[in-house]
Amino acid sequence: MSAEDQKRRAALRALDDVQNGMRLGLGSGSTAAHFVDVLAESVAQGLDVICVPTSEATAGQARAGGISLTTLDEMPELDLTVDGTDEFDDTLTLIKGGGGAHLREKIVALASKQLTIIADASKHVKTLGKFALPVEVVPFGARVTVARLERVAREFGCQGPITQRTKNGEVFFSDGGHLIYDCAFGEIADAASLGVALNAIPGVVEHGLFVSIATKVIVGTDDDTIVIS
Ligand code: A5P
Repeated sequence: MSAEDQKRRAALRALDDVQNGMRLGLGSGSTAAHFVDVLAESVAQGLDVICVPTSEATAGQARAGGISLTTLDEMPELDLTVDGTDEFDDTLTLIKGGGGAHLREKIVALASKQLTIIADASKHVKTLGKFALPVEVVPFGARVTVARLERVAREFGCQGPITQRTKNGEVFFSDGGHLIYDCAFGEIADAASLGVALNAIPGVVEHGLFVSIATKVIVGTDDDTIVIS
């Protein structure tokens, strides 16, 4: 079974938790796209939900699928957000932001009573950090901000190449108009402390560490789903 099949299986399992009338957050990325797909099928069959998307890409997909959308300003409390991840560990701590949407994803997740993460089996790690940690930075003074980021991370035993993200040879900008720096620190021993320290750096908008936010992870495997909560 391919990773895509595992993602689809996890997405279908997440749909079991969706009830009529719910206010949902819709994540971003290829796994979340499977959830938007299966949700759209249910909406076509009469399911009544209202959703807040975490990226322009997800908004476009949801709209095309006939899903009703709103904003967090209109609907500041959500029942459930379903999103993907780049990595998760046994404590449900995550690294997100591979698609550059982690800022909106974190805002939406924290406005939700529940955050269900759906993933293929490859996303489960013993210690976070194989995936380079995305950090979103404002363009003004970015070089100074990244130099500070490097110093702060070193205090937490994290060092390694920090690379400005590009896409098709062009500078990548998030939906919010910020830059993304991918920090290949390797194993992150204390994600909670590193996360707090990174967010204290002026110019850092948000990092991709999600600590104590996810309430459930659904992993699609070759023949089943595994639920960790
Ligand atoms: C978007 O910025 C990310 O946080 C995604 O949720 C994450 O990168 C997972 O993406 P895939 O499902 O495409 O692996």
